[in-house]
Amino acid sequence: MKTHKVAVIAGDGIGPEVLAEGIKVLRKVEALDGNMKFDFTHFPWGCEYYANHGKMMADDGMDQLRNFEAIYLGAVGFPGVPDHVSLRELLLKIRKGFDQYVNIRPVQLLEGAPCPLKDVKREEVDMIVIRENSEGEYAGAGDWLFKGKPEEVVLQTGVFSRKGTERIIRYAYELARKEKKTLTSISKANALNYSMVFWDQVFEEVGKEYPEVKTASYLVDAAAMFFVKQPQRFQIVVTSNLFGDIITDLGAAIAGGMGLAAGANVNPERLHPSMFEPIHGSAPDIAGKGIANPLAAIWSASQMLDFFGYNDWGRAVLKSIEKVMVEKKTLTPDLGGTSTTSEVGNAVIAALAGISKPQC
Ligand code: NAD
Ligand code: IPM
Ligand code: MN
Repeated sequence: MKTHKVAVIAGDGIGPEVLAEGIKVLRKVEALDGNMKFDFTHFPWGCEYYANHGKMMADDGMDQLRNFEAIYLGAVGFPGVPDHVSLRELLLKIRKGFDQYVNIRPVQLLEGAPCPLKDVKREEVDMIVIRENSEGEYAGAGDWLFKGKPEEVVLQTGVFSRKGTERIIRYAYELARKEKKTLTSISKANALNYSMVFWDQVFEEVGKEYPEVKTASYLVDAAAMFFVKQPQRFQIVVTSNLFGDIITDLGAAIAGGMGLAAGANVNPERLHPSMFEPIHGSAPDIAGKGIANPLAAIWSASQMLDFFGYNDWGRAVLKSIEKVMVEKKTLTPDLGGTSTTSEVGNAVIAALAGISKPQC
């Protein structure tokens, strides 16, 4: 029996609502498999915790998380706490603190998922965005000079280290080689004359070690246009922290919506816990109504199963999500249904039970 220690940070808004369904699905996998166990520990951190304690997580929060194999996170941020405080002191602190430098965000049109694009076939929206997740535009460096004065100047500095840039680009090349896919770099060297010139140079340099990988390079504005016009141009995509953030919400929009977009924040060396989360936020507009789509959180749980080495179970969970969407009987309002969050979770569990036990 293998036990996996998972820290659960449900967080704010719809975070706890969708994570509850992901955990239900993982418990079902555990029961069906019989040879693995998940040991969940819940941490009450988030904006409510901030209201009571004046901080987003316990002072020794990072030490408390250190010995978990994985973190399962819902969403962070809610009106009442400034976003740059709530996010930088919890979500971004974990990503950076545990060197989760690879953010894996699939942009894949699952079977049954709605696509707003005209005449696009399912297999034409099939990419994995590898987002740099530890530095770049999110480095947090800058200054605020002459605050409130007419000569006020604000600086927000991007940090692109040789180590940080090379390792994310290398990760993407390795993945493209393994999967026999093309690799596209998204940057913006025509305007960002330091960071992106460097990024493009590293992309080319590292590429010399992967002559078998076919590459392309797009400016981010053009890439955004082609995501919508010709998504089939992209297979594996590698990009910086901020561009990856923006382009993956666009990716979500063409692959079924925010309720269906999953992400893994990975420390590939496994020196620290990796973190799995839907890419959507706390959705204050629908929080507390029981109508949030849990499928993104469930897909993130499937990514966690892959990370633990249970790729067959990961695939089985994805298949179950597809089955629920193809049937169209149990969907939340964002996908045109009238079901609740927990009814959708139950439907995925029912679908999973119908899938024969994979050999892991
Ligand atoms: P959001 O992703 O929370 O919501 C954008 C829109 O998508 C809303 O209309 C929302 O109802 C809808 N939506 C999102 N997830 C959904 C789901 N599972 N089912 C159905 N509809 C869903 O983005 P926002 O409104 O810009 O941000 C709200 C808060 O969340 C902010 O504080 C923001 O900083 C934070 N945020 C956190 C994360 C995270 O924790 N990873 C990610 C993004 C935003
Ligand atoms: C995401 C979110 C975060 C990000 C925010 C909430 C800091 O938008 O995970 O996509 O920008 O990475
Ligand atoms: Mn985002």
